[in-house]
Amino acid sequence: MKLGSLELATPFILAPLESVSDAAFRRLCWSLGAGLTWTEMIRARGLTRNNRSTIELIDCFEADVPTGVQLMVVNEGELEEALERIEQLAATTHPHFRNLRAVDLNFGCPSPEVIKVGAGPALLKRRNKLRSIFEVLRTWKQRTALPIGAITAKIRLGLNRLEMDQKVYLPIVELANELLDGLTVHARHAREESTTSAHWEALAEVKQRATVPIIGNGDVVSLQTAQRLIEQTGCDGVMIARGAIRSPWIFRELTGQGPGQPALAEVDLAEEEWRRRATSLGSKPKYFEWHAEGFRRMRDRHAGSATSTALPPNEHMR
Ligand SMILES: Cc1cc2nc3c(=O)[nH]c(=O)nc-3n(C[C@H](O)[C@H](O)[C@H](O)COP(=O)(O)O)c2cc1C
Repeated sequence: MKLGSLELATPFILAPLESVSDAAFRRLCWSLGAGLTWTEMIRARGLTRNNRSTIELIDCFEADVPTGVQLMVVNEGELEEALERIEQLAATTHPHFRNLRAVDLNFGCPSPEVIKVGAGPALLKRRNKLRSIFEVLRTWKQRTALPIGAITAKIRLGLNRLEMDQKVYLPIVELANELLDGLTVHARHAREESTTSAHWEALAEVKQRATVPIIGNGDVVSLQTAQRLIEQTGCDGVMIARGAIRSPWIFRELTGQGPGQPALAEVDLAEEEWRRRATSLGSKPKYFEWHAEGFRRMRDRHAGSATSTALPPNEHMR
């Protein structure tokens, strides 16, 4: 699959995952078959205010793992400043920022704190504002010295049921056709929980109108569900979040390299390797907490003390 000038080895993409997608986890998913990986959502304001802990979240230390940064912005001015900041840091104190291959904008985070400031899904119906934001990103991509191959946005179907019924997502496809290299669609509106089935029919509608690659997202947890999503929607790529948290080996299954459920020895080895790498790259404590629990759950499934179909908790769902 091609996204902008990026040739992805597989069309299966690890979602941006807050508190989950540190560099060591991204490597694990990539080594198992993910064609592209994303950092967790980075607040542009944190970058423009030079917030150290925000800047540290852009942990793209390893050039061989294809990684993009996902930004959360309130408006085009903030985006412009944040992109300039990334460039400055790449040229000075943070040379590893040169490993970034893509930039994505988050229009899906359902957190009230994000919606209150008019960011995330609150922007979905603001076509002119979105155009200005996309234009800033496009212009920057054309002039930056950083090797950014693709610029994308990740959207939901609307802020709420009404917006989804009004199909606010369709005009965004036109904007993406004109200004971006691809569009990821999480097929739910922002008030929907992960317990509601994703509306894949909307993905098919989006795909019909798109000239850029469309990445479908929502409820892909196995090879069968990925195949069904592609058959029913025609999407070019598939983004996986909870399925990858439950078992990064889903990428091995999707790419036909082996089963989606690892052997116990594979979990042990992966955890050891993840821990070694996370330690040497200085991953934040929150990632250690998350993954200690994640690997424990994977082991429990072997011991039969957890149901094999249970998805991870969704309280962070964006
Ligand atoms: C723990 C967790 C953290 C998430 N963090 C982000 C994030 O930082 N940015 C984002 O766009 N979506 C985030 N999401 C949403 C996922 O990327 C994805 O859109 C959603 O979970 C639906 O996909 P799935 O059915 O494969 O889980 C998060 C989801 C979870 C479960």
